[in-house]
Amino acid sequence: MIILRTVNDVRSYVSTQRGRGASIGLVPTMGALHSGHLSLVEKAVAENAVVIASVFVNPTQFNNPDDLASYPRNEEEDFRLLSAAGVSAVFAPSVEEIYPGGPSSHCGHVFDLGMAAEVMEGKYRPGHFQGVAQIVSLLFRITEPDRAYFGEKDFQQIAVIRNMVKSEGINVDIVACPIKRADDGLALSSRNSLLTSEQRAIAPEIYSALNDSVEYSRSHSVRATHDTVVERLDAVPGLQVEYFEIVDGRTLAPVDEWEESPWIVGCITVYCGKVRLIDNIAYRLPN
Ligand code: PAF
Repeated sequence: MIILRTVNDVRSYVSTQRGRGASIGLVPTMGALHSGHLSLVEKAVAENAVVIASVFVNPTQFNNPDDLASYPRNEEEDFRLLSAAGVSAVFAPSVEEIYPGGPSSHCGHVFDLGMAAEVMEGKYRPGHFQGVAQIVSLLFRITEPDRAYFGEKDFQQIAVIRNMVKSEGINVDIVACPIKRADDGLALSSRNSLLTSEQRAIAPEIYSALNDSVEYSRSHSVRATHDTVVERLDAVPGLQVEYFEIVDGRTLAPVDEWEESPWIVGCITVYCGKVRLIDNIAYRLPN
């Protein structure tokens, strides 16, 4: 695995690989890798001749400076894991390399991300998706991947990136990969490493509540299903629901009735102490 630090080095690596007709898969990450990330890499390795992973904690997608400062970083271990997983090249630039004029969330260009970017994370983390679109579009432009791999834990992010690709006219296949969970159900996340042992012990309650609510939803309304999840989680000392929304899986518009869409997903964000955890569950899936 080769380590690339500059945009020029990536461009020249990509042009060499393209010259020999290789297909390219991109796995964008912010590092602090876990087996959820490695499952994306595994799929990318199976589907592409060359896999590029990026490791970059993108400052423009953080709307809270404390969150950015505490985001876990472990570059050496990340490189070891990526190399063992069969990644061909890792792009790990500095902030100055990506944002020579300093990070700013818009750089003059406002991405058209559609309604999917306005709700949920868009509402609670203003500017977050503009920052995600900024870095992901840049990564797409310099690595020119055939396919790019994203985890479904960030369900809304995938919908927003699909909108960005369309509005920017970028030709890449966005591959959504299933959520990886710990044995007790907690969705794997880099942020899990920030949990104390007491917090780690209560965090799986998030998935338990979501999972139990699928059965509950078969005989209850959308509103009642929403309320049962929120009430159950808010009753756990140390957990606080920021939002739980039951939405159309394609548009992310809230639904009032189960019959409204063949694809319905519940998306949740819960504070476990100061650590912000997200998860989601499908209530209805298209055939
Ligand atoms: O999902 C993430 O880790 C980040 O949002 C991404 C896609 C790597 C962009 O910084």
